[in-house]
Amino acid sequence: MENTQTENKKVVLSFVQASGTPTLGNYLGAFKNWHNMSQENNCIFGVADLHAITVRSQPADLRRRSVEMYAMLLALGLDPEKNIVFLQSHVKDHALLAWVLNCYTMFGEASRMTQFKDKSSKHADNVNVGLFTYPILMAADILLYGADCVPVGDDQKQHLEIARDIAERFNGIYGNVFKIPEPYIGKKGAKIMSLQEPESKMSKSDPNVKSFVSLTDSTDVIVKKIKSAVTDSEAKVCYREDKKGINNLMNIYSCCTGLDFDAIEKEFEGKGYGDFKAAVAEAVAEEIRPLREEYERILGDQAYIEACAKSGAEKAQRLADRTMNKVMKKVGFYRI
Ligand code: TYM
Repeated sequence: MENTQTENKKVVLSFVQASGTPTLGNYLGAFKNWHNMSQENNCIFGVADLHAITVRSQPADLRRRSVEMYAMLLALGLDPEKNIVFLQSHVKDHALLAWVLNCYTMFGEASRMTQFKDKSSKHADNVNVGLFTYPILMAADILLYGADCVPVGDDQKQHLEIARDIAERFNGIYGNVFKIPEPYIGKKGAKIMSLQEPESKMSKSDPNVKSFVSLTDSTDVIVKKIKSAVTDSEAKVCYREDKKGINNLMNIYSCCTGLDFDAIEKEFEGKGYGDFKAAVAEAVAEEIRPLREEYERILGDQAYIEACAKSGAEKAQRLADRTMNKVMKKVGFYRI
């Protein structure tokens, strides 16, 4: 397979965990930017299936979710010929580099990760070491491919910071081995909140399905979920600190229509939340519909999915080999 990555373009890389059906939050915070960036840059997008086993699931479920997430990446229009689109576990070097980087990460700095604290309180019966070292595997994903830029939602900012710190520490000892990645966090959509608890982020693993719009939801389901979104009793569409539910819906509406908050306030002046929610639901449904249709089409073509995943893994492996050779030599492993 020909190498489609061009030397003088920036390397843009990002992953999504195979931990459930992706949500509107994933789409507005990450996928939409991935799609926009995929035309101009050397892009590497992956399904983080290794990360997904920090939470226990049935083998068949993990397999199905991984394939579905991969199909979703293809449905986004991330051209698998021009970009590298693959599954993390198909390139074993992610795990190898993560081990090496474990030894260059301080226990204290890993302990400060807010997502670890958060997730370990949610899964108190399974606080495994993988949950703790999760950001180091993520650093390996990024550093393995010399990413210049990592488009993510706001919740991944701290993980990007630790990846940069680990890379700088390693480079400080061995010279310039790793490129220092820059996060890209969009101005809009970087933090889409739960529809039921607008103080928490919208999450694909939330047990309350009414809290998120999933990218596979039908228009009817989207309308129902947005209708039941938590708001307040003021019945005034305006952006204000204490109106978390309305702020979230305004943010979503703004991402889908391109309108700024002033324009949205004007559009709904004198109207109630019923009208506003109906408009938000319609805008979301229209935004998602083509993606859902393409996703269903691609999911029906397993041979295509398999061929793309195979060629993606081969291309990723070639890049990973280059970095791993350097890392192994620098650290002092005996090479034959
Ligand atoms: P994950 O799977 O939780 O989410 C994938 C992407 O979606 C963004 N996102 C959101 N953006 C806005 N609002 C939300 N409510 C929302 N929920 C999720 C996330 O910020 C992310 O960009 N650890 C990562 C996956 C990963 C990764 C990497 C990312 C593994 N290796 C290397 C970048 C680079 C994660 O769990 O994302």
